[in-house]
Amino acid sequence: MNHPQGKIAALLAMTGALCMAGANAGTFPDFGFAPPKTAYPGGTQLFRLSQDYPTVAPGSSSMPAFFKQLPANFNNDFETWRSYMNEVKKYCLEGNTEVNWNVQKNKVRQWYHMPWQHYGPYGREGFHGLTKEAPIQPSQLASTQTGSGQTYAVGIYNDIGAYTIGQVWKDPQNPDPSYTSSPKSFPNGTVVCKALFADIDVSTVPFLVNPVLWSAYTTTDFYSTKRQVTKVALIQMDIAVRDTRVKDTGWLFGTFQYNGAVTGKPGWDNLVPVGIMWGNDPKETGNNFTNPTPTETKINRALKQTAINANTKELPPTHLGWNGRLNGPVDNPQASCLSCHMTAEYQQLAIMNPTFQASPPPVGGDIWMKWFQNIPAGQPFTPGTQSTDYSLQLSGALANFYDWKCNHSGIYADGINACAKIQTLKLMKASNAPEQEVQKVQRSPELEDLE
Ligand code: HEC
Repeated sequence: MNHPQGKIAALLAMTGALCMAGANAGTFPDFGFAPPKTAYPGGTQLFRLSQDYPTVAPGSSSMPAFFKQLPANFNNDFETWRSYMNEVKKYCLEGNTEVNWNVQKNKVRQWYHMPWQHYGPYGREGFHGLTKEAPIQPSQLASTQTGSGQTYAVGIYNDIGAYTIGQVWKDPQNPDPSYTSSPKSFPNGTVVCKALFADIDVSTVPFLVNPVLWSAYTTTDFYSTKRQVTKVALIQMDIAVRDTRVKDTGWLFGTFQYNGAVTGKPGWDNLVPVGIMWGNDPKETGNNFTNPTPTETKINRALKQTAINANTKELPPTHLGWNGRLNGPVDNPQASCLSCHMTAEYQQLAIMNPTFQASPPPVGGDIWMKWFQNIPAGQPFTPGTQSTDYSLQLSGALANFYDWKCNHSGIYADGINACAKIQTLKLMKASNAPEQEVQKVQRSPELEDLE
């Protein structure tokens, strides 16, 4: 947060806003990094956090129609999932592409954002509310990609999920994750869609031909804190669906990759399915299909809880996750969607991936495999913490809130931290969690070096 503009925007937004009582529009800050006025024409609508969360649980008429398309038998042949994935994609994009993900203007259905992602050095920028995510390594996207880059992203929740966000943040001064922790969880029908963008030189990545480009106020490179206005290219779209019919985890995670050759012109319909997963295949311990610098997509048929699109005309060579589990092109090739996301808890005591530590355990060994179990929705990864039910945005938002509240503005004149004094801030210390270091909720360990 070295940029003066970013800092001022964040401070103004935070001081004014958080005194208000309910979680109505304007309660939570929109973004942390305001682009300079000279960078956009007058009248440009900057990012507004969609935060008018439903206060009554949405009824059955809100259930997404694509729920009817869930295959009767879960199978690792992607063709049995194709129509389901197409419908989910439609659900995420309908009404949103027309308004450039200015989701409050969506005429088909309402979408909402997670609060408290404006905060800190990776917080939301002002054009589209994009948060800074992860570095892109040379050759990660294609063999012709020699430069490095970075990813920025924005996620949206449907009304069913947003109702729970509203419950957690009902008292903006004292959020309560018990709403997502067992016996509770995000309700059946929750859908989250997340669009990811890269600042990579698109001419070096064949599938980024005919790109969809957004203006963004990004750091000059991944390791810098200095911001500039750039164009970033749509590269991936993630989906997460809470479905109580899914055994083992209660969630389906899927992803789409951009391929501008599909229609030959820029557009969101160039997003092609990579695959879908509903479990981590806890017994599958091999490593032969791990593929960090892909020249082909390696599909591991031994995995029964991941289905990967085998159509190579449609899907460009991509690296997937650990031993072929699902992950997208800008994700970590040693992880998987569900593996990272099942660690979501408050306080965040778990690291998201076994490689995110100084001496990682042996690949495929018992300790490593702790990250490739199947954990039911609402059950915390670390006993004694509260689950944020596969939502890393929620655990990250809670961490941001308490960092601000307790470490930055909450110091009393006698030097005692506000959180030590205010009883109601009970969450700063996770009830009976073991004494352990609290982890940062961030997609890659490299972000640690930026502070
Ligand atoms: C290395 C860990 C990691 C992996 C692998 C990963 N994610 Fe995430 N994901 C995160 C973090 C951290 C966030 C929260 C911050 C943000 O929004 O970027 C997040 C956010 C999301 C969100 C927004 C809602 C939420 O749960 O926080 C969705 C949806 C999502 N990811 C889907 C996916 C899918 C689908 C995959 C696999 C294709 C995937 N993720 C792989 C770390 C990961």
